[in-house]
Amino acid sequence: MATAMAEAMTGGGQEAVPLLEVKHLEKRFGGVRALRGASLTIQKGETVALVGDNGAGKSTFVKAIAGVQPPDGGDILLHGEKVSIGSTKDAGRLGIEVVYQDLALANSIDVAGNVFLGDEPLKFKLGWFSVPDFKRMERETQAVLERLRIKIPNPRRPVSQLSGGQRQAVAIGRSIRKEGGISLLILDEPTAALGVEEVRKVLALIRTLKEHGQTMLIISHDLEHVFHVSDRIAVMRSGRVHAVRETAKSTKAEIIHLIVGDIEEHG
Ligand SMILES: Nc1ncnc2c1ncn2[C@@H]1O[C@H](COP(=O)(O)OP(=O)(O)OP(=O)(O)O)[C@@H](O)[C@H]1O
Ligand SMILES: [Mg+2]
Repeated sequence: MATAMAEAMTGGGQEAVPLLEVKHLEKRFGGVRALRGASLTIQKGETVALVGDNGAGKSTFVKAIAGVQPPDGGDILLHGEKVSIGSTKDAGRLGIEVVYQDLALANSIDVAGNVFLGDEPLKFKLGWFSVPDFKRMERETQAVLERLRIKIPNPRRPVSQLSGGQRQAVAIGRSIRKEGGISLLILDEPTAALGVEEVRKVLALIRTLKEHGQTMLIISHDLEHVFHVSDRIAVMRSGRVHAVRETAKSTKAEIIHLIVGDIEEHG
């Protein structure tokens, strides 16, 4: 009854079920409480930036959602249903993918090889003998790159020869390649350690993903970039999501204050 009334007041239940609801996550490392009841909700198609000082708990929070380091307590709901994410495999099955700063590309092989790494389509298989379908890999890689509006002049080169921005693009291409897309793409410092032009390209890539409706959670220390791409900004502090702001209604000064200023708010 109360719910129906609340719905009537907010416009007849227009609010869709959130894509992701993280509730009261807890994580301890020995004596350190890295997460102390961290909660965050992300709507479908939203780009949320996760900011906070060093040691605030951002990486720990993301690792909990991605199954890298399962939390000690709290709940994670995907499309309104409680899920258990005990491993990165579990996360992958649920359509949660993370692109880490160090990227983990196979340097000696080419772009298509990396996009399909560990999941190569086979041309034929005879007992233990199998041959990957390189033509198909190249074709589908080309399609992914085009969809992301990424130009890589010679995708046959080993990825060790690509620029930082191109490598970032290959890693993102790999994580979103899955048939039917993925639910949540998490980017950990996607613009760190890149040159100016490379940063511009990666930000453009993030905006293209956004146009395609990709839901994203982006960790970044660079507020300029955060304001450029996000819909909302979640500020972590001492293991909690301390405050959340709509990007369009906030300012860098306000966010900086929320990150390091006197505490007067709880998220
Ligand atoms: N594996 C670990 N073992 C022990 N303590 C850890 C571990 N991982 C993180 N911590 C601690 O948990 C807290 C949160 O760390 P976390 O890496 O999540 O912060 P962060 O917000 O990602 O920081 P940064 O911006 O520096 O990357 C810190 O006090 C950190 O020292
Ligand atoms: Mg971190």
